[in-house]
Order: sequence, then C-alpha cells, then structure tokens
Amino acid sequence: MVERVDVRGKRMIVTGATPGSLGFETALTLASWGASVVVTTRSNTDAAVDALRTRLGDDDSQGSIDGHPMDLSDRSSVERFARWYRETHSDRLDVLVNNAGIHLDLLSQWKEPHLSDDGFEIQWRVNYLGTAQLTHLLLPPLKQTSEATGDARIVNVVSKLHFKGSNDQLFERTKPYDSWTAYGHSKLALVHMTLELQRRFAASSHLQAYCLHPGSVFTNVADRGLVGTGIVEAVRKALSPVEAFILKTPKEGAQTQIYCATHPGLRGGLYYDECEPSEPSEDTQDANTSARLWSETEAWLGSE
Ligand SMILES: NC(=O)c1ccc[n+]([C@@H]2O[C@H](COP(=O)([O-])OP(=O)(O)OC[C@H]3O[C@@H](n4cnc5c(N)ncnc54)[C@H](OP(=O)(O)O)[C@@H]3O)[C@@H](O)[C@H]2O)c1
Repeated sequence: MVERVDVRGKRMIVTGATPGSLGFETALTLASWGASVVVTTRSNTDAAVDALRTRLGDDDSQGSIDGHPMDLSDRSSVERFARWYRETHSDRLDVLVNNAGIHLDLLSQWKEPHLSDDGFEIQWRVNYLGTAQLTHLLLPPLKQTSEATGDARIVNVVSKLHFKGSNDQLFERTKPYDSWTAYGHSKLALVHMTLELQRRFAASSHLQAYCLHPGSVFTNVADRGLVGTGIVEAVRKALSPVEAFILKTPKEGAQTQIYCATHPGLRGGLYYDECEPSEPSEDTQDANTSARLWSETEAWLGSE
C-alpha cells in the first residue's frame, strides 16, 4: 500500500465511487488521510456516501465525504454537478480524480455501436467526452488552486487497453465496430487529454495531469459488461470467488490513483502503472493528435 500523505485541508473530487469500485476505495483512503472528498455516482449516490461515511467513522482527524449524482453521458447532468460543486463547496479544488467509466459488451456481441441519447458510441461518450466536459468545467477552480498553492492535480484512470485504440480511428471510424477497440479509443483519448493538459497548464499554472492503469481489479465493471449474456453471466457469478482471488482487490487496484493524487512532487504528464511511470502506446506520443483532439473537443463543448 502507498505511503500515507497528509492531505488535511485539501479538496478533492472522485468520480464513480459506488461500493465495490476503485472510486470507493480511492475516496475512502483520501478522506481517511484528511481530505474533504466529494464523490459522484450515476445512481444511488446517497447510499455510496452513507457507506463511505460509515467506513470512515467519526474520528475528527479525518476528512469528510459528500456526494452528488452525475451522469457523464448527459451534458446537463455534468453541468449541474459542476455548478453544485462550485456553489456548495468552494472555488478550491486540489485534485480531480476522473475515475468513473464503463467497459461494456465484454463478449463482443455487438455488431453495431450502442449509442448515447445524443448519438455517440456509449463508451466514448461516458469515458472520454463526459470526462472531458467535467474537466473543462472544473479547470477554473483547479487552476486557481494550483496558482495559489503550487499543487493541483488531474488524475485520469485509463487502462492498458488504450493500446487497442489507434490515432487514425479517433476522428473518423472506418473499421468495423468492435466494443473492446471502442473502449480502447475512449482510454487512448484520455491519455491524449492528460498529455495535452500537462502541455497547456503545468508550466503556466503548476497544474499537473496524470493517467494510470489500475491493473486487473475485481470490481463491478465486469458485472455491467456481461449484463444480458444469460448463462455466461450466471457462470461468472458462480465463479466470482475464484475471480476475486485471482484479481486485485479494489483497495489494491486503487493504489496507483491514490499515489498520483497525493505523492509529493510527483512528475506529471506521464502514464503510471503499479505506482511507477510506464510507457503508454506509441500513438499517445503524437502531440499533433493530442492538440487536434483538444480543439475538436472544445468545439463540441461549445456547440450547444
Ligand atoms: N476494474 C478493472 O480491472 C479496470 C482495469 C482498467 C481500468 N479500469 C477503469 O477503472 C475505472 C473504475 O472502474 P471500476 O473497475 O471501479 O468499475 P465499477 O465498479 O463498475 O465502477 C464504475 C463507476 O463509474 C460510474 N459510472 C458508470 N457509468 C457512469 C456514467 N454514465 N456517468 C457517471 N458515472 C458512471 C458507476 O456509477 P453507478 O454505479 O452509479 O453506475 C461507478 O461508480 C473505470 O474508468 C475503468 O475503465 C478498471
């Protein structure tokens, strides 16, 4: 487990903190180390907040937990959350952990993409576009905090599967649909976003951006990815103790994102794995693609 860091007084957001998830364990550790943590889930947020508060206990030396629902596939929901944060919490934001995400159709049964209400492939919409929207909305408090304290961070939870994405398919999909590749594209885009954030804001505002692979972790992600697969879903449920034994626990899996959120002086603009800098895919090194993605995303964000 990573070494405890004193984060008392810091304000942090962790998206996707449903019990049993990486976000839950991340929020719990950050609050137990003293941070004021705001969590989001898409559904049952009050239950997640209650579970976190119960686990945290009422020791005064610990931080706090608050929460608000947010659906990353819905522009107005993301706007509502960002507005609520700034109105009810503060203009201070030390760390944004962009953890929420989905990995659907694990058996690759979809022949065509499943679309969000506004017409995007659903994993791209949630994992990349929604996360990019949230990040853009929260840049003012993050920059303000980093300028005042010299340390604010954006931590993007990506995946080794970003290697399945390719730059030539980021802007125009010409190949047949494959849900694993689509997941890879959403995470490749988040690596590009991390590198572009670092290029744009590290020198001018001291804002650091990190991305990371958490490992293979026993969370709710596969439950969602196997919904509707009948016998496979049932067999997996029966074998879940074996799976839990083989994979990392959520607490173990959360260590690299906790490390990126807290480790003093940690170098930004890198991809981390097992709390060490690691090599991301070659495609991520194309700065022109990162810049183009940034400007096309900005155009989309300004389009309504
Ligand atoms: N588990 C792994 O092995 C693994 C490996 C590599 C990367 N990752 C990444 O790690 C991150 C955390 O995943 P996890 O494994 O902890 O999965 P999880 O247990 O399924 O948790 C995912 C979280 O994201 C939230 N979420 C789902 N759809 C959302 C939406 N449309 N808008 C807002 N929030 C939404 C969920 O909220 P609700 O419960 O309310 O839906 C939940 O809190 C993801 O980005 C995932 O891609 C996981």
